[in-house]
Amino acid sequence: MSPIDPHSYTDSSHPLTTHVALSLYLDFNTSIIHGSALLTLSSAFSGNLSLDARCIYIDKVLDPQTLEPLPCCSSSKLDPIRGTEVIVILSGQSSLLIVYQTSPSASALQWLSPLQTFSKSHPYVYTQCQAIHARSIFPCQDTPAARIRYDAVLNIPNSLSAVMSARHVRRRLPVPEEAKHLEEGSFGSSLWCAEDRVVEEFAMEQPIPPYLFAFAVGALGFREVGPRTRVYAESAAVEVLDAAALEFAGTEDMIKQGEKLFGDYEWERFDLLVLPPSFPYGGMENPRMVFLTPTVIKGDATGAQVVAHELAHSWTGNLITNLNNEHFWLNEGFTTYAERRIVEIVQGADRATLNIGIGWRGLTDEMERFKDNMELTKLWNTQEGVDPDDVYSQVPYEKGFQFVLRIERQIGRTAFDEFLKKYIATFKFKSIDTTTFLEFLIANIPGIEKEINLQMWIVGVGIPEDAYEPVSNIYTNIISLAKEFKEGRMPSENEVAEWNGQEWELYLENLPKSCEPSQVVALDKRYRLAESKDYEVKVSFLQLAITSKCREYHGEVEKTLKEVGRMKYLRPLFTALAQAGGTEEKQLAKQVFAEARETYHPIAQGVVESILSKYI
Ligand code: BES
Ligand code: ZN
Repeated sequence: MSPIDPHSYTDSSHPLTTHVALSLYLDFNTSIIHGSALLTLSSAFSGNLSLDARCIYIDKVLDPQTLEPLPCCSSSKLDPIRGTEVIVILSGQSSLLIVYQTSPSASALQWLSPLQTFSKSHPYVYTQCQAIHARSIFPCQDTPAARIRYDAVLNIPNSLSAVMSARHVRRRLPVPEEAKHLEEGSFGSSLWCAEDRVVEEFAMEQPIPPYLFAFAVGALGFREVGPRTRVYAESAAVEVLDAAALEFAGTEDMIKQGEKLFGDYEWERFDLLVLPPSFPYGGMENPRMVFLTPTVIKGDATGAQVVAHELAHSWTGNLITNLNNEHFWLNEGFTTYAERRIVEIVQGADRATLNIGIGWRGLTDEMERFKDNMELTKLWNTQEGVDPDDVYSQVPYEKGFQFVLRIERQIGRTAFDEFLKKYIATFKFKSIDTTTFLEFLIANIPGIEKEINLQMWIVGVGIPEDAYEPVSNIYTNIISLAKEFKEGRMPSENEVAEWNGQEWELYLENLPKSCEPSQVVALDKRYRLAESKDYEVKVSFLQLAITSKCREYHGEVEKTLKEVGRMKYLRPLFTALAQAGGTEEKQLAKQVFAEARETYHPIAQGVVESILSKYI
């Protein structure tokens, strides 16, 4: 008996789940899902089977063959990270049926009232399961070591429609028989087939780790943008749909480039869903249906870059998956590398280099952030007792990218491309750890361990000396302009004439953490950065304004924190406010969070809470 994942109760001696059949009744009035989950295991089992759950109320567990109840209990202690351990006692069964309800505070789900949506007239709900939130939607072995296929039946109001990270089978009227298990719980029998309800059926035939389970339900519309790609958003958000269709017009080209580099695209469709502004990430690689923040749609290169990143996950992350979060760099490091290879082809080498530069800056900043906890600067790090949401950082992305690039630089592109294709073909639809990767690397590139200090890259702290800081004219020029700001020189109109968002982002990120207030205000007077439509630029500037004690920007900071819920923006702004010496800043952080809390996704609520409790 031993755990296989520090974030799951799943035991190494238990059979893993291979299939889940879900029936979900979404109640928008109470923000509760009444559900049943039929789990099929890889083999019959006798003994105490451990499952993960968080804030789930279990009505009953049945043997699906006999419909007899199975003994079941939940740990009374709630582990703040892993949630609740649900133990079902099996005697030779290979499947179990759980009838349950979710909680309105389920960490994976954000329920939006009509007023919180674009339409103002229809509610909306969506999921975010990575890293360990699937367990708040249904009890499961919530570890990427398990790979599941699934069927799902979503019962929703007929004014809405549903999308999933799965094949859409049909939309139809509900039928009474399919509610029979739910009715055995506390669920009223007439609800399933009420007049205003409809059922959407989905099937996921490829095995996925549970964190890739996803759905969204709302008044949705779409535009066709390619032979296997539609973009979806709220149908009332016509401008968002139109802008997204333009922004993502190049998606098919990127998929084709990805196939050339990494092998066949295995997921049939590659649809995109643009979420409401409270979506906590830039993008999430849910298979067949990537989820995106609306903040990336701004008519420049970044929207396509986020899509390139989530698309790249189709190979690295979704086909080959990290065994648990301690090996997260296998997902994000490889994906960041693959993303930049695609960007290099479709946007040119200069853009790719600029991205490497922004990443490099981010990586060096993380070294400062983790200077008292260097464990988190290792690619493979120990996460016992660690909440993945609290330690999310650029390290797995950018140090991971640097490591992959280091291997490419050692053996050359041609050989590396061949290696990458073979790596993907060998481990597709498998979950692996760092050791498996290293063994494959050494077996396929004999002698590599003599050229690269693999141990240092994998379990060493900090940035290895043979990492690569990019060199290019734009990059070097921006860095030296940022240095000159310290000596009081602002870049001239001429020097910034060609800059767009990413150049400004790189410039701002390379300024000293706090500057002379009058200089910061003068920079903004000249270039209107606080009002930028580009959130990367706006947030970088506002962060600088806070740390430089330019309090005239507090109004803009408050406005920003109230209109978006993407953690990439919430984290730096709340951290800057909370860390700032002044009580005025701390007060603002507390007040804004109290007022905006309800509009954030539960994951973002948790992250902001832990930032505030650390410093205030
Ligand atoms: N898989 C991540 C998002 C994620 C990571 C969600 C960890 C939950 C836990 C996704 O692929 C990602 O990296 N998104 C980035 C996009 C970027 C690197 C282009 C983001 O959200 O900023
Ligand atoms: Zn990613």
